[in-house]
Amino acid sequence: MPTAELHAFLFAHPAAHSLSPALHCAALEAVGWSGSYRAEDVPPAALPARLQALRAQAAAGALTGANLSLPHKVAAIPLLDGLTPAATAVGAVNTVFWEEGRLLGDNTDAPGLQAALLDAGYAPAPEKRAGQRAVLLGAGGAARAALWVLREWGVPTLILNRTPERAAALAAEWAQEGCAVEGYTVEGWTVEAASPQAASPQAVNWAEVGLILNASSAGLDRPDETPLPLTPPQWQQLPPGALVYDMVYRPEHTRLRRDAAAQGVRTAGGLGMLAHQAALAFARWTGQAVDPGVLLAAAHRELGRPAEPGAEAQA
Ligand SMILES: NC(=O)c1ccc[n+]([C@@H]2O[C@H](COP(=O)([O-])OP(=O)(O)OC[C@H]3O[C@@H](n4cnc5c(N)ncnc54)[C@H](OP(=O)(O)O)[C@@H]3O)[C@@H](O)[C@H]2O)c1
Repeated sequence: MPTAELHAFLFAHPAAHSLSPALHCAALEAVGWSGSYRAEDVPPAALPARLQALRAQAAAGALTGANLSLPHKVAAIPLLDGLTPAATAVGAVNTVFWEEGRLLGDNTDAPGLQAALLDAGYAPAPEKRAGQRAVLLGAGGAARAALWVLREWGVPTLILNRTPERAAALAAEWAQEGCAVEGYTVEGWTVEAASPQAASPQAVNWAEVGLILNASSAGLDRPDETPLPLTPPQWQQLPPGALVYDMVYRPEHTRLRRDAAAQGVRTAGGLGMLAHQAALAFARWTGQAVDPGVLLAAAHRELGRPAEPGAEAQA
């Protein structure tokens, strides 16, 4: 019989300014549970002891769990007793939970992004996006979550990154995931990276790009920075219905989103992904389903913003 009380944590470094406590408090309230969710600043050297303390708490019968953020998502893997298939495939853990005497790692960023893209109206069915590909910006942890989604849906993907060598290494790694590899083709899914010489946006045929996904930190807290400085004619080459999804949500209307919207391109920001990954983590810990919309509203409240009515063109 589960207790109706959860005490969960965020381990990050730094941990200030996280929206997660607001989201998980809203989740507790929504299901009528008591408990707490605390953001803790855990430097890398302190992570092993902190996870061990969590393991001891859970083993003693407390209902607990943790989210991991930078810089712990990969470093935590050898400190855990096992991983879910999603965490194994992504190669990063953002949710730690207790199951049958083991402290396990899950990745809810990836399915959270998948759900947020569907909310934003992205059509995963191959016949709806025939001839289209995705351009993925960034080659860090968030890009790995995006690759999981794009591979699930079989969307051919081109990775562009500030450091092109990291994009190439990521593409090569994902292309080799457990399948017969021919060049960069895996079971019909292709992932490529622009070479250092060709990384400029001029090298891309934008007419076939149905999804631009920013998984880089460009624009985070810097309203005038963009990872993709396209010209208006380049934006206008995108096919009808193309979507720009920016995982960055601070500010809400990043320069990438503003540039795209100014040319009539649909955009959505990363709060939807944040809300979905939190709902999935909460379900892992408690077995309780929470409406991600409740968490999205809590995030908007915490940021002091009116709720965004989904993906829309803001010409
Ligand atoms: N919405 C959500 O729920 C959610 C979830 C996870 C992450 N995110 C966001 O996603 C972003 C990336 O997170 P992460 O965990 O992948 O971080 P990360 O592992 O540190 O990777 C950062 C990536 O951003 C690139 N980058 C950093 N600054 C840049 C700049 N000024 N211009 C162009 N590229 C730049 C880096 O390029 P180099 O390789 O050249 O260093 C690298 O590819 C963050 O903004 C994070 O807040 C959002």
